[in-house]
Amino acid sequence: MKSLKLLTVCGLCALGFIGASGQTKSDASIPHLQKKGTATQLIVDGKPFLALAGELHNNSATSLEFMKPLWPMLVEARFNTVLVGVSWNQIEPQEGMFDFHVLDGVIQEARNHKLRVVLLWFGSWKNSLSSYAPDWVKRDFERFPRAQFEGGVSIEELSTLSEANREADARAFAALMRHVKQADGQQHTVIMIQVENEVGMHTIIRDQSPAASKALAGPVPGELMDYLQQHKDTLIPEFRQVWATNGFKTSGTWEEVFGKGPGTDGIFMAWNYARYIGRVAGAGKAEYPLPMYVNAALYGIPKTPEFVPSHGRPWDLVMDLWHAGGPQIDVLSPDIYSDGDFAGFCSRYTQSGNPLLIPETGGGPGVIGKALYAFGRHDAICFAPFGIDRTASNSPIATAYGLLAQLSPMILEHQGNGTMSAVLMGPNDPPQKVKVGEYTLEVAPARPRGGAGATPAPQTTPGVGLFIATKLNEYFVVGNGLTVTFSSSVPEAPLAGMGTVEEGTFVNGCWVPGRLLAGDDTSQGDFLRLQNMGIMRVTVYRYR
Ligand code: DGJ
Repeated sequence: MKSLKLLTVCGLCALGFIGASGQTKSDASIPHLQKKGTATQLIVDGKPFLALAGELHNNSATSLEFMKPLWPMLVEARFNTVLVGVSWNQIEPQEGMFDFHVLDGVIQEARNHKLRVVLLWFGSWKNSLSSYAPDWVKRDFERFPRAQFEGGVSIEELSTLSEANREADARAFAALMRHVKQADGQQHTVIMIQVENEVGMHTIIRDQSPAASKALAGPVPGELMDYLQQHKDTLIPEFRQVWATNGFKTSGTWEEVFGKGPGTDGIFMAWNYARYIGRVAGAGKAEYPLPMYVNAALYGIPKTPEFVPSHGRPWDLVMDLWHAGGPQIDVLSPDIYSDGDFAGFCSRYTQSGNPLLIPETGGGPGVIGKALYAFGRHDAICFAPFGIDRTASNSPIATAYGLLAQLSPMILEHQGNGTMSAVLMGPNDPPQKVKVGEYTLEVAPARPRGGAGATPAPQTTPGVGLFIATKLNEYFVVGNGLTVTFSSSVPEAPLAGMGTVEEGTFVNGCWVPGRLLAGDDTSQGDFLRLQNMGIMRVTVYRYR
């Protein structure tokens, strides 16, 4: 690899951190994913980490000058992690000539501001198309073929079927990861990598190029058939049904195994994207194995469980194809812009052991509830609204992250062991029961409260509650717009009541109590009222 501009000296070599094998001695300290009960945690510097993140606009981090005023704003808005794009065109403007000086500056500035970074590899595809590929790739359309519409018209979208495309991308990505290791292998400012961005066929369901049509007419690869047979009982139900409908065949062409039609075209494309991106991710991991994920655009996906063509996108419906084709990819991540389906998509993307990582979502007042819900209910490892460049310090996401920063140690301790949950519900939703620790909590939308001067504000965002059972009879609770009634399932003492209810905050990890609540604030002891995103400590008892 030749360097075009500034060559960063490898500090690790100078300090003697590279062992004889060429591996860093402290491999276990590289940010990685680790199971904890039913949860998967992101471990950074040996400790579990909640990424209270946000994603910058696509091209902000291509200019250090542009970024300058943004860094302090990100800190004031309480982000601890920022997702930044890395453009293939910027790092490899000529084939084999790499220039990482902007990336180095971004990493250094993030480090100066005590922010962690997730790099978004805008390589072969960004929102289906190939606008971030270097000129030398775009111009050489014979060497780097495009996908095609029917009739042979090319799309400005590199074909997944081309080995030349895949290898060029994999070489660039490997160079990027090699550089990140050199520049950051000790400090771990960079904690995860998104490989490509919102991939999937643009406007059509499958690549209609001759290469793609030939592969579709050929046999389903043995690795995929093996995977399906080994995971037959745990496949995503809607996808399993497609295979079942066609007789659970264990070999044959794509159309013989999955049937003829657009569903199979989508299955075929999911496999091809997974194979390509898995290979790119693998080349990067061979250099520096940070956790890697791909993100999914969800437009067009049905809200109800039914199988539709995925265009190759990493939708939950085709999760099995991604797992089989791209095992180098650690997480499939939903970009959830549709607030009405937020909870549903969180559930769908935690099937088959997939950890919840939300790299893009909308902002606005509802973002507080979404963030609390994702971390509290689904043990999310990262939550990131999109377009956070100039987020104000009094914005809803800053409020959410202020709360979550206080609660992070407790959330991380209670992930994956049944002592934490969360509820997100609209004002007209029916009550829900959730078991948290030893008690069952009945959660309902809050009824308006009376009192002189009280004009109950109309509820504009869904109610949210996050509940953590810290000891046998103690809960920490935070949220808004909901009421909570505790109930006991112990026959000798079937009733449950609230002992002490106090508001408070965590300061440097220590609970500092505020008002003590009873009477009107707990409906005379009937239920807990979650309001104004205040944190409360509640003791609970049983009686008969
Ligand atoms: C989704 C993409 O993944 C982002 O990069 C960005 O283009 C947003 N859409 C814009 O809303």
